[in-house]
Amino acid sequence: MQVKHPLFFDIHQENKDADIQELIQGLLCRQATLSPKYFYDELGSVLFDAITLLPEYYPTRAESEIFVDQASEIHAQFPKQATWIDLGAGNCQKAVRLFKHTMPANYVAVDISTDYLSNNLKDLQAKYSEVRVIGLGVDFSSSLTFPGKLKELIAEQPLLALYLGSSLGNFNSTEAFYFLQRLANLCKAGQPGSGLIIGIDLVKDPNTLERAYADALGVTAAFNLNVLRRLNSLLGSDFDLQDWQHCARFNAQESRVEMHLNAKRDLAVNFHGHQRLFKKDETIHTENSYKWPIQNFSDLLLKSGFTNVQHWTDSKSHYALFWAS
Ligand code: AVI
Repeated sequence: MQVKHPLFFDIHQENKDADIQELIQGLLCRQATLSPKYFYDELGSVLFDAITLLPEYYPTRAESEIFVDQASEIHAQFPKQATWIDLGAGNCQKAVRLFKHTMPANYVAVDISTDYLSNNLKDLQAKYSEVRVIGLGVDFSSSLTFPGKLKELIAEQPLLALYLGSSLGNFNSTEAFYFLQRLANLCKAGQPGSGLIIGIDLVKDPNTLERAYADALGVTAAFNLNVLRRLNSLLGSDFDLQDWQHCARFNAQESRVEMHLNAKRDLAVNFHGHQRLFKKDETIHTENSYKWPIQNFSDLLLKSGFTNVQHWTDSKSHYALFWAS
């Protein structure tokens, strides 16, 4: 039997110089800040997968619960014989679990962490020989460009964009608006029936939120601290992980959980010809995870250009899945 191989496009030209400039600027700001995209090196991706198994981190389970409990209503919306574009696919498991209800014609897994993606896709193609499996390595947060061959596929079949796991939460409302507008335009340009399925974490009590980002086992702490290892390798910096402590807090005014790394003592860090002094308890802000009220998110989808919006929630109303077309 002939073994089918997944097609793979890597247009994520690792622009190392731009990354270095962005990191230096962020570290020199009064409130030192890093983009959460730097979490996802190989170890960071594995640590994130471990987070999704933690009892405190409810979003992954709540999303699965909705997909199981409301399967018939949700899958009734999905276009058949479609091209699925799985944005931030990671280990691809969230989307692949849906194959038993609706089988795509083409499955395009998009992720910034390309090594991790290509390893997962080989197994996937072997298991689902009837589906054309395609990998696309790209940082889709700033633009959504598809190589020519992929554009043709998207034009031929209806499109199902998947943005699962509440990843949109890492964008502020302006970034989220522009991102959704790009997706709405993509769906509008696609064949009839094209649409978006997106998972959104909802506002809830601060205790539940903070525990989800500061688990007892310390996996989220390791995920957060790992970014300093990444900086040491990208910037040649001399961060000592022992000097820093993970911290997660809900900022109610901004409706977001913030992750920070707190300096445990007064210290100096050297990177790329620069030095930054940190006072004890000064922080590096590493991630925002915005939590939405249902109505505000429905309104945002409509404002972004979608015309038909529907949602389902889990039994605790912690999380919502939205269909938009
Ligand atoms: C990927 N993203 C949606 C996760 C979140 O919940 O913001 C990343 C994460 N950070 C800490 N725990 C999980």
